[in-house]
Amino acid sequence: MAFTPRGGRGGAPRGRGGFGGDRGGRGGGRGGRGGFGDRGGRGGGRGGGARGRGAPRGRGGPGGRGGAGGARGGAKVIVEPHRHAGVFVGRGKEDLLLTKNLTPGESVYGEKRISVANSANPTNGEDAPATSTEYRVWNPFRSKLAAGILGGVDDIYMKPGSKVLYLGAASGTSVSHVADIVGPEGTVYAVEFSHRSGRDLINMATHRTNVIPIVEDARHPLKYRMLLPMVDCIFADVAQPDQARIVGLNASLFLKVGGGVLISIKANCIDSTAAPEAVFASEVNKMREMGIKPKEQLTLEPFERDHALVAGIYHRSS
Ligand SMILES: C[S@@+](CC[C@H](N)C(=O)[O-])C[C@H]1O[C@@H](n2cnc3c(N)ncnc32)[C@H](O)[C@@H]1O
Repeated sequence: MAFTPRGGRGGAPRGRGGFGGDRGGRGGGRGGRGGFGDRGGRGGGRGGGARGRGAPRGRGGPGGRGGAGGARGGAKVIVEPHRHAGVFVGRGKEDLLLTKNLTPGESVYGEKRISVANSANPTNGEDAPATSTEYRVWNPFRSKLAAGILGGVDDIYMKPGSKVLYLGAASGTSVSHVADIVGPEGTVYAVEFSHRSGRDLINMATHRTNVIPIVEDARHPLKYRMLLPMVDCIFADVAQPDQARIVGLNASLFLKVGGGVLISIKANCIDSTAAPEAVFASEVNKMREMGIKPKEQLTLEPFERDHALVAGIYHRSS
């Protein structure tokens, strides 16, 4: 299939909003993704969750049933697997994106949690003890990957058991959800050069042992080469003008041939004078030069303005 960006002005995915999460959303905005090749754009939705802007910050109290994200406290939520393995959807009054909490009983950044009772499993005629699974609400206004998933990205190149190199980890909010996705058999190598954010990242990783925090500059991957095996996926969100080069350098050292690359591009970090679509196109060309074959591109609206997520497969540059 030819590579065709999905841009334009559409609406909130599903046109329903429902992702107020712990911070509250921005509200409608200019719409999400438009047409991609043969697929037409979606109509304008509300975006931003039922409560919209300024939804109260979640306290991350004990799960129980429902009570998550934009949902009303105590509301019943049914959890279903998303088509991306390791991601879940909570169906209730509003839909919620969820990941299965690796450390039940703990929130990472005040996000809400939902606990779902597992169905009873009688063994040898006796009732097994009741168990439950806890999920964390994943707010697309705080995570480009979550925004991309809600925008309909076809492949996230990570699943339970994957090794992911995450560039631009910040304090680890999105990283923590990636850690939930890859689960105890997978590993997230999280690179962040700010020492301040790095402290929070390290703290988060003390609870999530499948996260390896690396407080280094991603422009110098040789400094952390001893910590990394070959990985299945690179996710990049460094918001730097030379992001494509940074990804290319890291891919050449650590990414398996055939591995996936996901790059979040913030247009005005690259060139604030050019039209976002022109910036995205130029970044995609740089990715090609780095040996990454682009597969899809979508805008992250209504969750992020003038951002795109580009996904591709690594073939290695000549
Ligand atoms: C947009 S924020 C990332 C947000 C994060 N991905 C999340 O969803 O929570 C960009 C981060 O990249 C970090 N960063 C920028 N340039 C970097 C570099 N060369 N090496 C490592 N980290 C870098 C910044 O310090 C910042 O924390």
